[in-house]
Amino acid sequence: DPFGTHATIVVFGASGDLAKKKTFPALFGLFREGQLPPTVKIIGYARSKLEEDDFKQRISANFKKGTPEKIAEFLKLTSYISGPYDTDEGYLTLNESIESYEASHKLSTPERLFYLALPPSVFTVVASQLKKNVYAAHGKTRIIVEKPFGHDLQSSRTLQKDLAPLYTEDELYRIDHYLGKEMVKNLLVLRFGNEFFSGTWNSKHIKSIQISFKEAFGTEGRGGYFDSIGIVRDVMQNHLLQVLTLLTMERPVSFDPEAVRDEKVKVLKAFEALDPKDILLGQYTKSEDGSKPGYLDDDTVKPDSKCVTYAAIGINIRNERWDGVPIVMRAGKALDESKVEIRIQFKPVAKGIFKEIQRNDLVIRVQPNEAIYLKINSKIPGISTETSLTDLDLTYASRYSKDFWIPEAYEALIRDCYLGNHSNFVRDDELDVSWKLFTPLLEYIESKEGPVPELYPYGSKGPQALRKFLNDHDYIFSDEGTYQWPLTTPN
Ligand code: BG6
Repeated sequence: DPFGTHATIVVFGASGDLAKKKTFPALFGLFREGQLPPTVKIIGYARSKLEEDDFKQRISANFKKGTPEKIAEFLKLTSYISGPYDTDEGYLTLNESIESYEASHKLSTPERLFYLALPPSVFTVVASQLKKNVYAAHGKTRIIVEKPFGHDLQSSRTLQKDLAPLYTEDELYRIDHYLGKEMVKNLLVLRFGNEFFSGTWNSKHIKSIQISFKEAFGTEGRGGYFDSIGIVRDVMQNHLLQVLTLLTMERPVSFDPEAVRDEKVKVLKAFEALDPKDILLGQYTKSEDGSKPGYLDDDTVKPDSKCVTYAAIGINIRNERWDGVPIVMRAGKALDESKVEIRIQFKPVAKGIFKEIQRNDLVIRVQPNEAIYLKINSKIPGISTETSLTDLDLTYASRYSKDFWIPEAYEALIRDCYLGNHSNFVRDDELDVSWKLFTPLLEYIESKEGPVPELYPYGSKGPQALRKFLNDHDYIFSDEGTYQWPLTTPN
């Protein structure tokens, strides 16, 4: 059920990092593209005492592609309220401000969106204060919350239990920003809208699957936070699992959000318990040339921390479609490049007429530079009768015009929220199954007896053992001697 022609959007944690880097730039991006409701008021709320001008300067620091006029026009719609999170006073001021705005525009049905760009320690208190003092009793209220949704199964359940009496599942929008990425949103269309893929998407044709996340920077500046989180909680239990779920779920009966999310939960329930022996863990040390610090060089990190900055995890889905297909999910910080991609390797064809023939790889690159390419065998053109590996390539930047607006993840998701579309948000039962899957593994990794991560230098490809780990999971590297495209390096 979409908002009508107007909305009040309140961003909590407005002086914080997430708001500055993601939330406000996304609101501006939507405004720039004419995608906000025609009548809109945007309020920042936080504890810090900030002058209105300082606030505006702060939030506009990361705006993209805006003319000074457009930025000024947007900033005119915004204002700032400073107040505590845990007592009534600031919320009463906020409520007055919203009500007087609604009254001056004669808006009889209030439509209010609260974006909680806040640490989890204050989620519940802010959510209950909002319910008590600012809830649109005769209108629509929506709340956006962001991970971490708990630290493990139990704390996630506590959080859900605390929020449930306050807001219906319909009013809650749990952001996993990977669900707002263009290529991730394309997965269902790609899979179910093409018989070529749909028909081969199973253990009869697919040999192995990889979901890989690489970042070329470490945890500089947020080591203290990261130390209790680790890479598995940071990006795997949430972002990469979401991607894998969309990649492996059955066909939903429609694109209705509940139909899609029902299928996601179903496939998650078919995941086998994660095997603590089927993992590869790493932690980065300083770069080989010494210019980049090691993970432990951060003063805010425990000196003997075993925190994992790299992980590869073997996954098995025990249903009719996937049983027997090894899946590897891998993620690392401080590597040689930044890249997120899905790599599906098909089974080899019958030998017979070919002595040596390579396998098909379908690669879906989520970022940077969205692309989908399929490595295929083809005869070398001309008089040669030899076979070589080449590709069918859909690189967005060369296929689609540069002027074509692809919303950033946060832009897409905030827009979905006021349009009332829950498809790309995490449902409570989905969250529960994902924690059920990862909690035992996390407990093992973080226990005293847990494994010691393999060290790898900042800027490298990650732990040395990776290549063997991938081979053991049925990924065969293509013969790079015959395949020339630079974009194919798989790790
Ligand atoms: C966040 C993690 O959720 O996702 C970060 O906390 C990570 O550590 C980020 O860098 C990656 O998001 P993106 O959109 O830059 O790939």
